[in-house]
Amino acid sequence: MESFQSAKEEVKRAADIVELIGQYVQIKKAGQNYMGLCPFHSEKDPSFTVSPSKQMFHCFGCKRGGDIFAFWMEYHKVTFPQALKDLADRYQVTLPEKPMTPFEKEKMELKASLFEVNRVAAEYFHGILTKSEKGRSGRDYFTRRSIPKEVIREFCLGYVPDEWDGLIRYLSGKKMNLDQAAQSGLVIRKKTGGYYDRFRGRVIFPIFNMRQQIVGFGGRILDDSLPKYINTPETPIFHKGEFLYGLHASHKSIRDNGRAVIVEGYMDVLALRRCGFQEVAGTLGTALTREHIRSVKGYAGEAVVVFDSDSAGKAAAIKSLTSFMNEGLSSKVMVLPEGDDPDSYVSKNGLRGFLSLLEDAVPMFDYYLDSKLAQKEDAVERQVNLLKEVLPVLARLDQVSQQSLYLRRLSEKLGIPESIIRTELQNWQKHHMGETPEDGLRERLSASRAKKVDDLYLLNVLIHHPQAMNRLMSLDYRLILSDPVVVGIFDAIHEIYEKEGATMPSDILESLKDEQAREQFREAMLTPPIFADEGVEQALNGFEEKIHGIKMTESKKKAAQQGDLEGLNRILELKREREGRVI
Ligand code: CTP
Ligand code: MN
Repeated sequence: MESFQSAKEEVKRAADIVELIGQYVQIKKAGQNYMGLCPFHSEKDPSFTVSPSKQMFHCFGCKRGGDIFAFWMEYHKVTFPQALKDLADRYQVTLPEKPMTPFEKEKMELKASLFEVNRVAAEYFHGILTKSEKGRSGRDYFTRRSIPKEVIREFCLGYVPDEWDGLIRYLSGKKMNLDQAAQSGLVIRKKTGGYYDRFRGRVIFPIFNMRQQIVGFGGRILDDSLPKYINTPETPIFHKGEFLYGLHASHKSIRDNGRAVIVEGYMDVLALRRCGFQEVAGTLGTALTREHIRSVKGYAGEAVVVFDSDSAGKAAAIKSLTSFMNEGLSSKVMVLPEGDDPDSYVSKNGLRGFLSLLEDAVPMFDYYLDSKLAQKEDAVERQVNLLKEVLPVLARLDQVSQQSLYLRRLSEKLGIPESIIRTELQNWQKHHMGETPEDGLRERLSASRAKKVDDLYLLNVLIHHPQAMNRLMSLDYRLILSDPVVVGIFDAIHEIYEKEGATMPSDILESLKDEQAREQFREAMLTPPIFADEGVEQALNGFEEKIHGIKMTESKKKAAQQGDLEGLNRILELKREREGRVI
């Protein structure tokens, strides 16, 4: 492979964008394309489109789009070099030595080395648990908690004996760099020099990302001593609140069932999986973040959050409601009896018991309203306070349809007519809105709707009828185009056309410098052809006529202003030109 460009092309040839994106986002066939809920912005109705024939994706809502590399970069939040490397690995394409900036190279290498040291450490922990005499107490522990061999294997569970240097010796034996082990949080540097193991005398839960790499670990002590769990601290590859435990294994079931059950703990995930319930992932004790929600909503149409009935659990639930609403993922709450967590509940009541509680899960918005209304204040005050809290959330919802739904629920629950609540909402919006990030999106959407028809038509012809290129390029297109972005596209293509003659539209996309131009171009590529092949000529005649008309009017205006012979001559010339035109 001589160049990166050719490696990139080879990866593109080897990959299928539908298969690749389908692994991460629930997409369904719709005509020639596939559609689903956009993983990059909040939406309730699918506008995320994947085109197998063009090997690209585009979201008609947030306008993100591009090829497999663009998807990978956006989805995994990685740079282009990393995306190229990941996808090349995935499709077994060999990359040439890469001219990266020294900074990029250093960062990428550091991350790769941290993943590697984590992988070797997990191998050590897992080996002790499954093969070593030293792992007996770990094995007994998992037996006591009914975790079978298959789950131990699938989640690569481990055990680390209560030693200060068990892992250090193993890593040294493998010639691993202990400084990197320290950077990945596995070992801790002593003030006096040297290192010691962070995890000692604990069962170990490796945490995987969606690329099946180990980003960090949790370790549980075997008895009642404290702290019960210790976890990998923040590292370049591990950020708390970003990962859902078990999602790397559960996403297929979540996609198949359209539902994700979100629990808190490692053992909750494993206990449900052991009972055969697969659509589950864990927040690892942190509050549910928007990143968490985003990471499941590509797979699930609905999330059910399981709460302890304690008040801390309830407060956490209510906090996450806003995030769910803004992400446009419908959410439910499943409440467990006092003192139980999913693990203990399913152990006592079996999967059946769990499933029947799951069926009783209530929409999170209702749960929120009910728990608010149960507070002991006098009725009017309660209603006012509740409205104060809910209106800002409703006002910020991206979709009007969703807003109406919640308005209706609110009206039912509060016993206040919907119209009154709606007026309140409008008042609130009038006084407070204007600075939320969603506004930009809304503006752009309505701007794109108002776009002049000619712009859309001309672009559509340009993209879907390459045979019309010569004629299009000879038109004074600037006279009928009104959107500067479309003019920019035509100008860019005109420049290429002058130099190289007619090109395929898909080749043009890459050479567009302006991001807005690329958005618009992708959107046009995914919009079906407006004219049939036979109709193109007539359409072009129509455009030509319109342009001619504009020119005539302008010339006449000029001539009238100047009253000179030259102007009249120009009109005559134009007239002749037109009558003598051969198609
Ligand atoms: N957690 C943590 N550190 C702690 C306590 C809890 O990181 N000191 C996280 C763990 O991910 C844990 C989750 O919060 O799984 C839920 O905590 P908890 O309910 O206390 O533990 P369980 O998961 O129920 O663990 P077990 O059943 O083993 O007691
Ligand atoms: Mn538990």
